[in-house]
Amino acid sequence: MESILKNAIQNNKEWAKFGQVASYIPELAKGNKDALGACIVEVNGNVVLGGDYETRFTIQSVSKVITLACALIDNGKEIVFSKVGKEPSADPFNSISKLETREAHIPLNPFINAGAIVTTSLVSGDNGIEKFSRVHNMIKKLANNDNIEVNYSVYRSEKLTGNTNRAIAYYLKGANIIEKDVEDILDAYFKLCSIEVTVQDIAKIACVIANNGVAPWSKEQIIPTHVNRIIKAIMVTCGLYDSSGEFSVNVGLPAKSGVGGCIMAVAPNRVGIAVVGPSLDKHGNSVAGTKLLEELSQELNLSMF
Ligand code: DON
Repeated sequence: MESILKNAIQNNKEWAKFGQVASYIPELAKGNKDALGACIVEVNGNVVLGGDYETRFTIQSVSKVITLACALIDNGKEIVFSKVGKEPSADPFNSISKLETREAHIPLNPFINAGAIVTTSLVSGDNGIEKFSRVHNMIKKLANNDNIEVNYSVYRSEKLTGNTNRAIAYYLKGANIIEKDVEDILDAYFKLCSIEVTVQDIAKIACVIANNGVAPWSKEQIIPTHVNRIIKAIMVTCGLYDSSGEFSVNVGLPAKSGVGGCIMAVAPNRVGIAVVGPSLDKHGNSVAGTKLLEELSQELNLSMF
């Protein structure tokens, strides 16, 4: 597996030149466009690292998977899916347009920004600090790493420039979909996006999901199986926003991308994979990371379909 990963990274590094590092959050523009790193964690706990695996990046929208898991554990699926849908969106991740036109105004799914702001509001905790801690602790537990912290420069940059997210959140409050203080919920959302990780952290999280919610290193059932099933299903249909269909055809795995350049992919009962390549396509997904996953899926015969 080590040599397959090494070759795949070498073969796909060049794709970075066809994308751009995210710049709508100024601090993200500092990401290394040419970096390409990956980690594969097998369900027996074996870890394989390749390329620029030491690159540190912010988790961004990959956090939406863990936020959804916490919201489902804390509320049950009836309450969660009364406030956010399960349907894919053909619009960009930060789109606001469907909120007004859809019946009951609920966001299409928990992985677009609007949906993740709703799931953040549903996580247990009396305020944004407690909600953030709940998901942050879950991320640390799933990654088996107590040293995962927020990158405060990115957080400040997100908070300063996050006006579209602010508009979305106030709309949701006006439509009675989120309760409590809007700025407090947004603060938790911005902080969750700004958690700094490596591919090894994310591949471990993916590995727990691949292993039906059980951590191979402790045998603990961290995510209940019924919740684990739901998050995998939504990763297939909504994980790469308006290119989820193309990703399913070419890679064939539940996955979630983030504008920090990470893609987390889950091969059920086999491996968790994380790739990082900060150069993004027009949908906000890592260009070289997507191509790398295509090759890994083929070489390791990972597609679910
Ligand atoms: O809400 C935002 O704009 C970001 N902090 C997270 C967006 C993101 O990662 C979208 N993913 N491709």
